[in-house]
Amino acid sequence: MYYFYVFVILLKLFYNPNNKEKKLRVRREKNIDRKLELYRDTYLIDKDEISNKLSGKNNIYVEIGMGKGDFILELARRNPDNLYIGIERSDAVVLKALKKIENQKNLLFVIANIDDLRDQFENTFDGLYLNFSDPWPKKRHYKRRLLYREYLDLYDKWLKKGSLIQFKTDNDILFEFTLEELEETGREAFDVTRDLHEDSRYSDNIVTEYENKFSKMGFTIKGLRFYSR
Ligand SMILES: C[S@@+](CC[C@H](N)C(=O)[O-])C[C@H]1O[C@@H](n2cnc3c(N)ncnc32)[C@H](O)[C@@H]1O
Repeated sequence: MYYFYVFVILLKLFYNPNNKEKKLRVRREKNIDRKLELYRDTYLIDKDEISNKLSGKNNIYVEIGMGKGDFILELARRNPDNLYIGIERSDAVVLKALKKIENQKNLLFVIANIDDLRDQFENTFDGLYLNFSDPWPKKRHYKRRLLYREYLDLYDKWLKKGSLIQFKTDNDILFEFTLEELEETGREAFDVTRDLHEDSRYSDNIVTEYENKFSKMGFTIKGLRFYSR
């Protein structure tokens, strides 16, 4: 009987029925759901909702880890005929991005970790932007870098063949790692630059929040492009 009571207490302590539902997002802020609700038409949190919104649409471009959204919002303004999807796992960060949008009909945010969206998209996107992805500088964490070969394969699945992928970073380790991953997996990087702000191939560059911060601190911005396969 004693063991039974211990078992019941432990079950109550550690069993949370909500854990059964795979969490798509990182929740950090109190009352975040209520705050997000004000922008309900502009963000997606549910897998079916994502599928329904994208079904039948063309010219869809995605940014992974879009942060506070300056980049993708400007891209959406410049290209009103395309649909832009910003994926970001932190809902507090997405809330900041949502506050900046005013009536931008061709832009949607998905609040999710891309690891939980692996099977969500197939031949869906026409282009991908990776801006200042977390560098995970410790060697043992290299598989977490969003430019690791398993992610490159995932992007091939998500994107239509031959779509443009553009990557920018201030981080030397991540940049050199990316070049190696591309080469070792038989992909070809082009427009490779170690000073993007001085490079005419990026004259239409849209500065992201991190880019602004790091270039002001004196870091040069690196960039490259490659095609999905
Ligand atoms: C260093 S910030 C860069 C933000 C923005 N792209 C910029 O350039 O200012 C990286 C962002 O990617 C998001 N992120 C990292 N890994 C992610 C993942 N697996 N899925 C979705 N978002 C991710 C983080 O929450 C963070 O907001």
